[in-house]
Amino acid sequence: MRPLALLSLVGCADLGGPSDAVPSAGAVTWNRDVAAILERRCVGCHSESGLGGFPLDDYATAAALAPQLVDAVESGRMPPFGAPATDACPNPLPWVDDPRLSVEEMLLLRVWAETGAPRGSGALRHAAPAAAPPRVDDVLRPQGVEVVEPGPDQHRCFVLQPRLPILYGLEAISIEPGDADVVHHALLFSDPGGVVSAQAVGGSFDCFGLKPEGGRLLASYAPGMGATIAPAGTALAMRDSDPLILQIHYHPRPDELRYDRTRVNLTYRWEEAEYAALQLLIGNLDTPEAGSGNGLLADADGVSEFLIPAGATDHVEQMMVTLPVAVPFYSLGAHMHLAGRSMQLLLSSADGQRSDCLLDVPDWDFSAQRAYEIDKPLGLLPTSTVGDRLVLRCAYDNSLGNAALAEELAAQGLDAPVDMVLGEASLDEMCLAVVGLVVPWSQVETAEAF
Ligand code: HEC
Repeated sequence: MRPLALLSLVGCADLGGPSDAVPSAGAVTWNRDVAAILERRCVGCHSESGLGGFPLDDYATAAALAPQLVDAVESGRMPPFGAPATDACPNPLPWVDDPRLSVEEMLLLRVWAETGAPRGSGALRHAAPAAAPPRVDDVLRPQGVEVVEPGPDQHRCFVLQPRLPILYGLEAISIEPGDADVVHHALLFSDPGGVVSAQAVGGSFDCFGLKPEGGRLLASYAPGMGATIAPAGTALAMRDSDPLILQIHYHPRPDELRYDRTRVNLTYRWEEAEYAALQLLIGNLDTPEAGSGNGLLADADGVSEFLIPAGATDHVEQMMVTLPVAVPFYSLGAHMHLAGRSMQLLLSSADGQRSDCLLDVPDWDFSAQRAYEIDKPLGLLPTSTVGDRLVLRCAYDNSLGNAALAEELAAQGLDAPVDMVLGEASLDEMCLAVVGLVVPWSQVETAEAF
């Protein structure tokens, strides 16, 4: 912490605009304190071309907005973060890259705003965007450009071949859409022995709902998601020289042709890792499983059917899966479509006595999806016991009050909501957890079997 003397400054000055005042010793300035905070926490989105809509990397803009910045931060609106503490999940796990400001940073920002947003001495600092993305060892692209024509959603698979043999797995993979307006989501699988790839003509093929036989999910992309990174001491599980299959779900624009060439960046691991990091998609169940209590759970009215009635504003679907192995989790993510409202992931013991909330995403936003990586060393990651059950609780707003959904309905020429079922299309819904597991290499196949 900085000296507590700072505290005495709080509340003793009016919120003001920019100032050229020479700071007194110990005061908070742009150059010394604030530029670095915005660099770490804001500039990733608030740059000239970023998501945030206006830049926060230069002194004049930030100083003119100082009181608004304080308000946005203290109210919790900024930086947006999908997995805060909630009533259902009061003690969330610590997340890697949690962008929220520490109490100290909030205090510095407030003091800066309240003392007239001083710039500080010396050359004016520019807040540069934060950390560079991971090193890239190989860039893979489909052979040609995909023409995305207006019409129904399309699923295309592209065969990609890494240029070097992958001996020790991968450290990181990122999927970068060529045209983010039409790439609804993308999944990257390995294709053991190239069995599926052999059927591709010209390097691509239609592949609605495909998961290559024996293929392993390596990485996923949905709007808002960054790179898939293996935790320290692990490698993303990838077999030698298997080809990769990039499956893209395209959601065409209603009135214009678009062109996409999505790229995949690989970061190799250059030495043996003791553990494999696996990603599994768990959920999307639309029937109860006989006898076990697993599968889709009954709605409040006792009916087991995945159906979100048109107009429902808070409809809940729940499903349960029993875990076959005791495994540490290293990352957790939620996936729904546009009616999604909130999603919780709970881990409960076989006897139902213990139930831990692993993740709560209280304000689902389709355009800001991400996996939440748990900020703990390997040995301290939360671990399931054999027989533990993963419960997914997905809530939906299938009404015109849901702006994202209303926009999509309008784009499809509809002026009222429609009943939604489980499916792939953008007016279907999903309830899917993206779970990252750490397993010894010898257990990879068992863990994958569910
Ligand atoms: C993940 C991207 C992202 C990050 C990081 C981010 N913002 Fe934003 N910000 C947005 C988006 C998108 C909007 C516009 C939409 C909205 O109002 O929610 C926005 C709007 C704002 C607004 C105007 C609307 C409001 O709620 O007051 C302010 C002020 C703001 N951001 C400040 C900040 C500050 C300060 C930081 C860093 C501490 C920050 N933002 C970090 C994405 C981001």
